[in-house]
Amino acid sequence: MSATPDIHVVILAAGKGTRMKAARPKVLHPLGGMPLIEHVVTTARALGPASMTLVIGHQGDEVKAALARQPGLGFVVQEPQLGTGHALLVAEPVLAGTAGVVLLLYGDVPLLTAATARALIAHHLQRQAAATVLTARTERPTGYGRIVRGSDGRITRIVEERDASADERRITEINSGVYVFDLPAVFETLHRIGSRNAQGEYYLTDIVQANCATGRVVETVCVTDFTEIRGVNSQLELAELGAELRDRRARAVMAAGVTVIDPGSTWIGVDVEIGADTILYPNTWIAGRTRIGRNCEIQSGSRLVDVEIGNDVLVRQHTVIEQSRVGAGAKLGPFTHLRPDSDVGNHAHVGNFVELKKTVLGEGAKANHLAYLGDATVGARANIGAGTITCNYDGVHKHQTTIGEGAFIGSDSQLVAPVSVGDGAYVAAGSTITQPVPPGALGISRTPQTNKDGWVSKRRSGAS
Ligand code: UD1
Ligand code: MG
Repeated sequence: MSATPDIHVVILAAGKGTRMKAARPKVLHPLGGMPLIEHVVTTARALGPASMTLVIGHQGDEVKAALARQPGLGFVVQEPQLGTGHALLVAEPVLAGTAGVVLLLYGDVPLLTAATARALIAHHLQRQAAATVLTARTERPTGYGRIVRGSDGRITRIVEERDASADERRITEINSGVYVFDLPAVFETLHRIGSRNAQGEYYLTDIVQANCATGRVVETVCVTDFTEIRGVNSQLELAELGAELRDRRARAVMAAGVTVIDPGSTWIGVDVEIGADTILYPNTWIAGRTRIGRNCEIQSGSRLVDVEIGNDVLVRQHTVIEQSRVGAGAKLGPFTHLRPDSDVGNHAHVGNFVELKKTVLGEGAKANHLAYLGDATVGARANIGAGTITCNYDGVHKHQTTIGEGAFIGSDSQLVAPVSVGDGAYVAAGSTITQPVPPGALGISRTPQTNKDGWVSKRRSGAS
């Protein structure tokens, strides 16, 4: 048995996207919290490709910069953009000397599944085709290239809407723009293609006719779910595909035992995993690389991005968590803000209007009301009173605050970092702490109270 041939992926993303009417490059518009192009790259990566090449052009530098954290991507610049055939030709130098197949994708078609791409490649290999086209059937083919078939039912060419006859325009099988081609033969064929058509462009679609003319096998695979091959050309289409992705993701987590009260307003990113028996309330946004355990409750208005949450966690309304970890049994919110690099221990509580940044809150510790804890380490079972502030910034540098296990910080205290409060120590309410408080000690720094008897009647005649 011969080894599986290499898959080289080429993603076309040089076009302008005029109809988006936006300054942002089309392929960087976000769909479910992730740029369109990253959806395509993620799908391509799932195929285990030998290489991935992006053809960029308009605002190419911005596209490249946005993908800087994606490993193993090659970029080629297409300038000027002379059509889809020309776009693939620009990638020829990168693919010189390679064998196997090239899978061609569009950067603005985000919902194609890896399963469909695999089926397309498998069909291509099984039929030993030179080219295999992913097609779709639709009652509204306007704007797409049409699949023209001969009397034997085999594909003979693809005709663009602009170049099609009235009869051809009635064809309801369309070209998705996704193909598999044999390497290196595809480039030989491409070099023979001209630009004599309504747009004066080099059409990638002409490969079909060119191959048929030389007796090479061209195959088609028809996709069953049309949304997989839909492209984004306008803000309306972006929203429509976003809704499709939202529904798809909600269906996937529900199939895995998650309760989604209102799938229509619950956004779950493609790289999110949620355990069974967790309940998602309406209007929740869960994105990035996020893992949520079992039996959690994520209430309305919450936004979780790049978060790891253990089992049995309660996230009350309007809680925002970014790049942080929350241990099992913890309770957050309403209105909690966990900024990056926060780590809330098991069974800890973080309540209303409490903000954490780069802070570790120990197991069972509590910060229930109106506090700011930045660059801090809080020991297990410590209690942070209402209105406690770590003064972590001196205007130039950030400093650490360390609070020991079981410590008790009275309300409205300021901890001027760098500073520490020892295990089991107390800070009196209203204190400004600038010196370390030893374990078991009371730190107090408030002015003693004096009462002036009869003061009111002396100063304010008429007051009783
Ligand atoms: C293309 C197909 C058409 C198909 C449709 C599916 C051709 C000639 N036609 O038409 O049969 O039904 O896609 O959506 O291929 N691009 C470049 N460089 C270029 C031109 C385009 O990178 O020079 C990129 C665009 O950014 C886009 C993709 O290729 O992502 C498709 O280009 P587009 O102009 O939308 O092609 P269509 O006319 O829609
Ligand atoms: Mg198009």
